[in-house]
Amino acid sequence: MALVTGASSGLGNACATLLAKRGYAVYGTSRDPGARDRKADEFFELIRLESSDDDSVSTAVGYVLAKEGRIDALVCCAGMGVAGPVEETPVVEAAAQMDVNFMGVVRVVRAALPGLRASGGRLVVVGSLAGSIAVPYQAYYAASKAALAAFVDALRLELVGMGAQATLVEPGDFRTGFTASRRTFGLADDSPYADNGRRAIAVMADSERHGADPILFARLVTALLEKRRLAPRYRLGPWPQRAAMRLKDLLPRRLGEALLKAYFRIYSVKGA
Ligand SMILES: NC(=O)c1ccc[n+]([C@@H]2O[C@H](COP(=O)([O-])OP(=O)(O)OC[C@H]3O[C@@H](n4cnc5c(N)ncnc54)[C@H](OP(=O)(O)O)[C@@H]3O)[C@@H](O)[C@H]2O)c1
Repeated sequence: MALVTGASSGLGNACATLLAKRGYAVYGTSRDPGARDRKADEFFELIRLESSDDDSVSTAVGYVLAKEGRIDALVCCAGMGVAGPVEETPVVEAAAQMDVNFMGVVRVVRAALPGLRASGGRLVVVGSLAGSIAVPYQAYYAASKAALAAFVDALRLELVGMGAQATLVEPGDFRTGFTASRRTFGLADDSPYADNGRRAIAVMADSERHGADPILFARLVTALLEKRRLAPRYRLGPWPQRAAMRLKDLLPRRLGEALLKAYFRIYSVKGA
């Protein structure tokens, strides 16, 4: 059986649907499982989970454990994006980004670990290429995903000999509801960041809209659940982004940064 958070849309929905079609008993989560325009629960049971709420997470995971007695696979997809300049994004919004994307995974993983250990199960955490490569005007989002990478690396070592295994999947850009749900702060007309920030965010949004099909993510996760040993990290998405990740490891840092500036169309601001 599998528990997939953030299963009402995008990567989580594709994954939960494919796992159900492959014969897994699947529980998916959403903040609002009753939303009428959703057909997400056609193939699996959709239960309520708000990542930033301790009680909501323990109730959801407790429900699954009470029904199934174990968790064979946990796929943590729930997440959202906050964009805007570091200086102009309110601290409360930066904290909310970390709370949903990082602490949300922490809450679910802590609640599920006894069930995962009992079954020798698999944990797949969804990070992002943004956690490994600089993405301007999404600093808090990138930080939340970098935190997940460190968390999974450490957890893997703690799970040695316990049967359960964990891995981090770092997707590049995918066509999902993520782009429309992203909340953007600052960048008023008189902001010194306005031109660069608007351009960079437009580049990102365009790349996401033309991004990969979520089914590729679903296929990767399904394959990972069948693998004997999980690697620490898997990256997937459009090939130029995967190539950029390889280049990042090879190029001198300054050259890598210059390429990112050109990609995101960041120009120096006079008089700022
Ligand atoms: N799309 C991309 O290009 C991309 C790239 C790299 C990484 N990712 C990561 O992939 C994951 C899935 O995103 P997606 O692209 O599939 O976006 P999406 O289509 O917007 O799906 C996001 C999912 O997360 C859930 N969610 C959002 N806020 C939540 C909260 N506070 N508590 C609980 N659930 C919440 C949503 O469920 P409800 O709204 O029903 O609650 C929805 O099911 C995210 O972690 C994202 O950071 C996406």
